[in-house]
Amino acid sequence: MPGAIHAEGLVKTFGDVRALDGVDLDVPEGTVLGLLGPNGAGKTTAVRVLTTLLQPDSGKAVVAGIDVLKHPNEVRRQIGLSGQFAAVDEYLTGRENLQMVGQLYQMSARDAKARAAELLERFNLAEAADRTAKTYSGGMRRRLDLAAALVVRPPVMFMDEPTTGLDPRNRLALWEVIQDLVAGGTTLLLTTQYLEEADHLAHDICVIDHGKVIARGTSDELKARTGGERVEVVVHDRDHLVTATEVLGGFGKGETAVDNHTRRITVPVSGGAKLLAEVIRELDTRGIEIDDIGLRRPTLDDVFMSLTGHAAEEKEEESQ
Ligand SMILES: Nc1ncnc2c1ncn2[C@@H]1O[C@H](COP(=O)(O)OP(=O)(O)O)[C@@H](O)[C@H]1O
Ligand SMILES: [Mg+2]
Repeated sequence: MPGAIHAEGLVKTFGDVRALDGVDLDVPEGTVLGLLGPNGAGKTTAVRVLTTLLQPDSGKAVVAGIDVLKHPNEVRRQIGLSGQFAAVDEYLTGRENLQMVGQLYQMSARDAKARAAELLERFNLAEAADRTAKTYSGGMRRRLDLAAALVVRPPVMFMDEPTTGLDPRNRLALWEVIQDLVAGGTTLLLTTQYLEEADHLAHDICVIDHGKVIARGTSDELKARTGGERVEVVVHDRDHLVTATEVLGGFGKGETAVDNHTRRITVPVSGGAKLLAEVIRELDTRGIEIDDIGLRRPTLDDVFMSLTGHAAEEKEEESQ
Protein backbone atom coordinates (compact mmCIF):
# COMPACT_ATOMS: atom_id res chain seq x y z
CA MET A 1 0.00 0.00 0.00
CA PRO A 2 1.46 3.39 -0.95
CA GLY A 3 2.20 5.79 1.88
CA ALA A 4 0.90 9.32 2.36
CA ILE A 5 3.62 10.53 0.01
CA HIS A 6 4.81 8.40 -2.86
CA ALA A 7 7.12 9.47 -5.66
CA GLU A 8 8.58 7.40 -8.41
CA GLY A 9 11.31 8.31 -10.87
CA LEU A 10 10.93 12.06 -10.57
CA VAL A 11 13.04 13.94 -13.09
CA LYS A 12 13.25 17.70 -13.42
CA THR A 13 15.85 19.50 -15.48
CA PHE A 14 16.63 23.21 -15.70
CA GLY A 15 18.74 23.57 -18.83
CA ASP A 16 21.82 21.44 -18.19
CA VAL A 17 21.06 20.94 -14.50
CA ARG A 18 19.31 17.74 -13.53
CA ALA A 19 17.74 19.10 -10.33
CA LEU A 20 15.90 15.79 -9.86
CA ASP A 21 17.49 12.80 -11.49
CA GLY A 22 15.10 9.92 -10.84
CA VAL A 23 13.97 10.36 -7.25
CA ASP A 24 11.84 7.73 -5.50
CA LEU A 25 10.29 8.53 -2.14
CA ASP A 26 7.86 6.84 0.20
CA VAL A 27 6.55 8.31 3.40
CA PRO A 28 4.21 6.07 5.41
CA GLU A 29 1.18 7.77 6.91
CA GLY A 30 1.80 9.49 10.22
CA THR A 31 5.60 9.47 9.89
CA VAL A 32 8.26 12.08 9.25
CA LEU A 33 10.71 11.85 6.39
CA GLY A 34 13.82 14.01 6.61
CA LEU A 35 15.07 14.91 3.15
CA LEU A 36 18.68 15.75 3.75
CA GLY A 37 21.18 17.31 1.39
CA PRO A 38 23.53 20.23 0.81
CA ASN A 39 22.63 23.38 -1.07
CA GLY A 40 21.61 22.64 -4.63
CA ALA A 41 20.89 18.96 -3.96
CA GLY A 42 17.33 19.22 -5.28
CA LYS A 43 15.38 19.41 -2.01
CA THR A 44 13.28 22.46 -2.89
CA THR A 45 12.63 21.15 -6.37
CA ALA A 46 11.32 17.89 -4.90
CA VAL A 47 9.06 19.79 -2.50
CA ARG A 48 7.78 22.02 -5.30
CA VAL A 49 6.91 19.03 -7.45
CA LEU A 50 5.16 17.22 -4.61
CA THR A 51 3.18 20.32 -3.66
CA THR A 52 1.97 20.88 -7.25
CA LEU A 53 3.99 24.06 -7.77
CA LEU A 54 6.23 22.58 -10.44
CA GLN A 55 5.67 20.05 -13.23
CA PRO A 56 8.32 17.31 -13.39
CA ASP A 57 9.68 16.26 -16.80
CA SER A 58 8.80 12.70 -15.93
CA GLY A 59 7.86 10.50 -13.03
CA LYS A 60 4.90 10.04 -10.83
CA ALA A 61 3.78 11.47 -7.50
CA VAL A 62 0.88 10.59 -5.25
CA VAL A 63 0.08 12.62 -2.14
CA ALA A 64 -2.67 11.66 0.31
CA GLY A 65 -3.79 9.07 -2.22
CA ILE A 66 -4.24 11.67 -4.98
CA ASP A 67 -2.25 11.89 -8.20
CA VAL A 68 -0.31 15.16 -8.03
CA LEU A 69 -0.06 15.63 -11.79
CA LYS A 70 -3.64 14.72 -12.58
CA HIS A 71 -5.43 16.41 -9.70
CA PRO A 72 -3.28 19.27 -8.35
CA ASN A 73 -6.22 21.22 -6.94
CA GLU A 74 -7.40 18.30 -4.88
CA VAL A 75 -3.88 17.69 -3.59
CA ARG A 76 -3.63 21.34 -2.51
CA ARG A 77 -6.64 20.86 -0.25
CA GLN A 78 -4.86 18.06 1.62
CA ILE A 79 -1.49 19.65 2.22
CA GLY A 80 0.27 22.38 4.13
CA LEU A 81 3.51 23.99 3.02
CA SER A 82 6.06 26.19 4.62
CA GLY A 83 9.15 27.22 2.81
CA GLN A 84 10.71 29.91 0.77
CA PHE A 85 7.29 31.13 -0.31
CA ALA A 86 6.15 33.55 2.38
CA ALA A 87 2.39 33.89 2.54
CA VAL A 88 2.44 36.74 5.00
CA ASP A 89 0.44 39.93 4.33
CA GLU A 90 2.61 42.93 5.23
CA TYR A 91 -0.28 45.18 6.11
CA LEU A 92 -1.92 42.86 8.61
CA THR A 93 -0.67 42.29 12.13
CA GLY A 94 0.90 38.96 13.05
CA ARG A 95 -2.27 37.95 14.83
CA GLU A 96 -4.51 38.96 11.92
CA ASN A 97 -2.34 37.03 9.50
CA LEU A 98 -2.71 33.83 11.48
CA GLN A 99 -6.43 34.25 12.10
CA MET A 100 -6.95 34.91 8.42
CA VAL A 101 -5.24 31.65 7.49
CA GLY A 102 -7.46 29.78 9.93
CA GLN A 103 -10.59 31.30 8.47
CA LEU A 104 -9.46 30.66 4.91
CA TYR A 105 -9.34 27.02 5.92
CA GLN A 106 -12.85 27.16 7.39
CA MET A 107 -11.94 27.13 11.06
CA SER A 108 -14.46 28.86 13.28
CA ALA A 109 -13.47 32.40 14.28
CA ARG A 110 -13.04 31.20 17.82
CA ASP A 111 -10.76 28.29 16.93
CA ALA A 112 -8.74 30.46 14.56
CA LYS A 113 -8.26 33.01 17.32
CA ALA A 114 -7.18 30.42 19.85
CA ARG A 115 -4.78 28.71 17.45
CA ALA A 116 -3.28 32.08 16.44
CA ALA A 117 -2.69 33.02 20.08
CA GLU A 118 -1.12 29.65 20.82
CA LEU A 119 1.30 29.88 17.87
CA LEU A 120 2.22 33.51 18.58
CA GLU A 121 3.13 32.44 22.09
CA ARG A 122 5.09 29.40 20.95
CA PHE A 123 7.14 31.35 18.44
CA ASN A 124 7.86 34.22 20.80
CA LEU A 125 5.78 36.65 18.81
CA ALA A 126 3.20 37.42 21.48
CA GLU A 127 4.61 40.87 22.21
CA ALA A 128 4.68 41.82 18.55
CA ALA A 129 1.35 40.15 17.76
CA ASP A 130 -0.54 43.37 17.21
CA ARG A 131 2.02 45.13 15.08
CA THR A 132 1.81 44.97 11.29
CA ALA A 133 4.05 42.35 9.76
CA LYS A 134 5.98 44.98 7.79
CA THR A 135 7.53 46.18 11.06
CA TYR A 136 8.88 42.69 11.79
CA SER A 137 12.55 41.79 11.56
CA GLY A 138 13.64 39.07 9.14
CA GLY A 139 13.68 36.47 11.90
CA MET A 140 10.21 37.44 13.09
CA ARG A 141 8.84 37.26 9.54
CA ARG A 142 10.28 33.83 9.21
CA ARG A 143 8.62 32.67 12.43
CA LEU A 144 5.32 34.19 11.36
CA ASP A 145 5.54 32.36 8.06
CA LEU A 146 6.14 29.08 9.90
CA ALA A 147 3.27 29.77 12.26
CA ALA A 148 1.01 30.52 9.27
CA ALA A 149 1.85 27.12 7.80
CA LEU A 150 0.97 25.48 11.11
CA VAL A 151 -2.42 27.08 11.78
CA VAL A 152 -4.32 24.21 10.24
CA ARG A 153 -3.34 20.59 10.70
CA PRO A 154 -3.42 19.14 7.21
CA PRO A 155 -3.09 15.38 6.68
CA VAL A 156 0.19 15.94 4.81
CA MET A 157 2.65 18.69 5.50
CA PHE A 158 5.79 19.85 3.70
CA MET A 159 8.39 22.04 5.33
CA ASP A 160 11.36 23.26 3.33
CA GLU A 161 14.33 23.99 5.60
CA PRO A 162 12.04 25.29 8.32
CA THR A 163 14.74 25.98 10.88
CA THR A 164 17.40 27.52 8.66
CA GLY A 165 18.12 30.92 10.17
CA LEU A 166 16.22 30.32 13.42
CA ASP A 167 17.96 30.85 16.73
CA PRO A 168 18.21 27.83 19.08
CA ARG A 169 15.23 28.85 21.19
CA ASN A 170 12.90 29.19 18.22
CA ARG A 171 14.31 26.06 16.66
CA LEU A 172 13.27 24.13 19.77
CA ALA A 173 9.86 25.78 19.70
CA LEU A 174 9.38 24.67 16.12
CA TRP A 175 10.46 21.13 16.91
CA GLU A 176 7.80 21.00 19.61
CA VAL A 177 5.08 22.24 17.29
CA ILE A 178 6.16 19.72 14.68
CA GLN A 179 6.14 16.83 17.17
CA ASP A 180 2.72 17.92 18.27
CA LEU A 181 1.47 17.94 14.71
CA VAL A 182 2.86 14.49 14.01
CA ALA A 183 1.39 13.12 17.24
CA GLY A 184 -1.93 14.32 15.85
CA GLY A 185 -1.49 12.10 12.78
CA THR A 186 0.02 14.47 10.22
CA THR A 187 2.53 13.02 7.77
CA LEU A 188 5.51 15.30 7.29
CA LEU A 189 8.21 15.71 4.71
CA LEU A 190 10.90 17.99 6.05
CA THR A 191 13.98 19.16 4.24
CA THR A 192 17.07 20.12 6.15
CA GLN A 193 20.81 20.52 5.89
CA TYR A 194 21.26 19.33 9.46
CA LEU A 195 21.57 15.68 10.40
CA GLU A 196 20.91 16.59 14.00
CA GLU A 197 17.53 17.97 13.06
CA ALA A 198 16.55 14.99 10.97
CA ASP A 199 17.81 12.86 13.81
CA HIS A 200 15.53 14.55 16.27
CA LEU A 201 12.39 14.68 14.16
CA ALA A 202 12.49 12.13 11.37
CA HIS A 203 11.58 8.45 11.41
CA ASP A 204 13.34 7.95 8.11
CA ILE A 205 16.04 9.92 6.37
CA CYS A 206 16.72 10.22 2.71
CA VAL A 207 20.01 11.79 1.64
CA ILE A 208 20.02 13.40 -1.78
CA ASP A 209 22.74 15.01 -3.80
CA HIS A 210 22.77 16.17 -7.41
CA GLY A 211 19.12 15.17 -7.71
CA LYS A 212 19.76 11.56 -6.73
CA VAL A 213 18.99 9.62 -3.57
CA ILE A 214 22.39 8.48 -2.34
CA ALA A 215 21.33 6.88 0.92
CA ARG A 216 18.22 6.17 2.91
CA GLY A 217 17.44 4.64 6.26
CA THR A 218 16.86 5.54 9.85
CA SER A 219 19.22 7.93 11.51
CA ASP A 220 20.88 5.04 13.34
CA GLU A 221 21.45 3.22 10.08
CA LEU A 222 23.02 6.26 8.46
CA LYS A 223 25.23 6.85 11.43
CA ALA A 224 26.31 3.24 11.44
CA ARG A 225 27.35 3.73 7.81
CA THR A 226 29.46 6.72 8.77
CA GLY A 227 31.05 4.72 11.57
CA GLY A 228 28.75 6.04 14.29
CA GLU A 229 29.95 8.54 16.84
CA ARG A 230 33.48 9.72 17.33
CA VAL A 231 35.48 9.73 20.52
CA GLU A 232 37.84 12.67 20.71
CA VAL A 233 40.64 12.72 23.26
CA VAL A 234 43.24 15.36 23.98
CA VAL A 235 46.17 13.85 25.90
CA HIS A 236 48.07 16.00 28.35
CA ASP A 237 51.52 14.78 27.45
CA ARG A 238 52.67 14.47 23.84
CA ASP A 239 54.78 11.45 24.80
CA HIS A 240 51.57 9.57 25.52
CA LEU A 241 50.16 10.04 22.02
CA VAL A 242 51.36 6.70 20.70
CA THR A 243 50.04 4.64 23.60
CA ALA A 244 46.76 6.56 23.69
CA THR A 245 46.31 6.05 19.95
CA GLU A 246 46.81 2.34 20.50
CA VAL A 247 44.18 2.31 23.25
CA LEU A 248 41.66 4.22 21.14
CA GLY A 249 42.39 2.06 18.13
CA GLY A 250 41.27 -0.91 20.22
CA PHE A 251 37.85 0.65 20.68
CA GLY A 252 37.59 2.11 17.18
CA LYS A 253 35.35 1.06 14.32
CA GLY A 254 37.39 2.92 11.74
CA GLU A 255 40.56 4.81 11.13
CA THR A 256 42.12 6.68 14.06
CA ALA A 257 43.10 10.25 13.27
CA VAL A 258 45.92 11.87 15.25
CA ASP A 259 46.72 15.57 15.34
CA ASN A 260 50.20 15.92 16.82
CA HIS A 261 49.92 19.66 17.25
CA THR A 262 46.79 19.70 19.37
CA ARG A 263 47.51 16.22 20.85
CA ARG A 264 44.02 15.26 19.72
CA ILE A 265 43.03 11.73 18.74
CA THR A 266 39.71 11.01 17.01
CA VAL A 267 38.21 7.64 16.27
CA PRO A 268 34.78 6.47 15.08
CA VAL A 269 33.12 4.20 17.63
CA SER A 270 29.78 2.66 18.44
CA GLY A 271 28.63 2.19 21.98
CA GLY A 272 27.95 5.70 23.22
CA ALA A 273 28.48 6.93 26.74
CA LYS A 274 29.14 3.47 28.13
CA LEU A 275 32.05 3.04 25.77
CA LEU A 276 33.34 6.48 26.69
CA ALA A 277 33.55 5.38 30.32
CA GLU A 278 35.52 2.29 29.29
CA VAL A 279 37.93 4.41 27.26
CA ILE A 280 38.51 6.68 30.24
CA ARG A 281 39.15 3.70 32.54
CA GLU A 282 41.57 2.13 30.10
CA LEU A 283 43.51 5.36 29.60
CA ASP A 284 43.64 5.77 33.35
CA THR A 285 44.91 2.20 33.86
CA ARG A 286 47.73 2.93 31.44
CA GLY A 287 48.57 6.11 33.33
CA ILE A 288 47.66 8.43 30.47
CA GLU A 289 46.57 11.86 31.64
CA ILE A 290 43.95 13.58 29.49
CA ASP A 291 43.03 17.24 29.10
CA ASP A 292 39.75 16.62 27.36
CA ILE A 293 37.57 13.75 26.20
CA GLY A 294 34.19 13.71 24.53
CA LEU A 295 31.75 11.90 22.34
CA ARG A 296 30.74 13.67 19.16
CA ARG A 297 27.93 12.62 16.89
CA PRO A 298 28.56 12.47 13.17
CA THR A 299 27.56 15.59 11.32
CA LEU A 300 26.00 15.75 7.89
CA ASP A 301 29.49 16.38 6.61
CA ASP A 302 30.66 13.11 8.16
CA VAL A 303 27.79 11.32 6.43
CA PHE A 304 28.66 12.94 3.16
CA MET A 305 32.31 12.26 3.60
CA SER A 306 31.56 8.62 4.20
CA LEU A 307 29.03 8.29 1.37
CA THR A 308 30.86 10.19 -1.31
CA GLY A 309 34.39 10.80 -0.09
CA HIS A 310 33.76 14.56 -0.30
CA ALA A 311 32.66 17.20 2.14
CA ALA A 312 29.29 18.74 1.32
CA GLU A 313 30.80 22.16 0.55
CA GLU A 314 33.41 20.78 -1.83
CA LYS A 315 30.70 18.96 -3.72
CA GLU A 316 28.77 22.16 -4.09
CA GLU A 317 31.72 23.87 -5.77
CA GLU A 318 32.19 20.90 -8.04
CA SER A 319 28.64 21.13 -9.29
CA GLN A 320 29.12 24.67 -10.55
N1 LIG B 1 13.94 27.71 -11.40
C1 LIG B 1 15.18 27.24 -11.59
N2 LIG B 1 15.85 27.56 -12.70
C2 LIG B 1 17.09 27.08 -12.92
N3 LIG B 1 17.75 26.25 -12.09
C3 LIG B 1 17.13 25.90 -10.96
C4 LIG B 1 15.81 26.37 -10.64
N4 LIG B 1 15.45 25.85 -9.46
C5 LIG B 1 16.48 25.08 -9.05
N5 LIG B 1 17.48 25.11 -9.95
C6 LIG B 1 18.74 24.36 -9.85
O1 LIG B 1 18.44 23.02 -9.52
C7 LIG B 1 19.34 22.49 -8.56
C8 LIG B 1 18.57 22.06 -7.33
O2 LIG B 1 18.05 23.20 -6.70
P1 LIG B 1 17.16 23.13 -5.38
O3 LIG B 1 16.09 22.14 -5.57
O4 LIG B 1 16.75 24.51 -5.06
O5 LIG B 1 18.21 22.59 -4.31
P2 LIG B 1 18.16 22.63 -2.70
O6 LIG B 1 16.80 23.07 -2.30
O7 LIG B 1 18.51 21.26 -2.28
O8 LIG B 1 19.20 23.63 -2.29
C9 LIG B 1 20.34 23.60 -8.29
O9 LIG B 1 21.47 23.38 -9.12
C10 LIG B 1 19.61 24.85 -8.70
O10 LIG B 1 20.52 25.85 -9.11
MG1 LIG C 1 16.18 24.66 -1.05
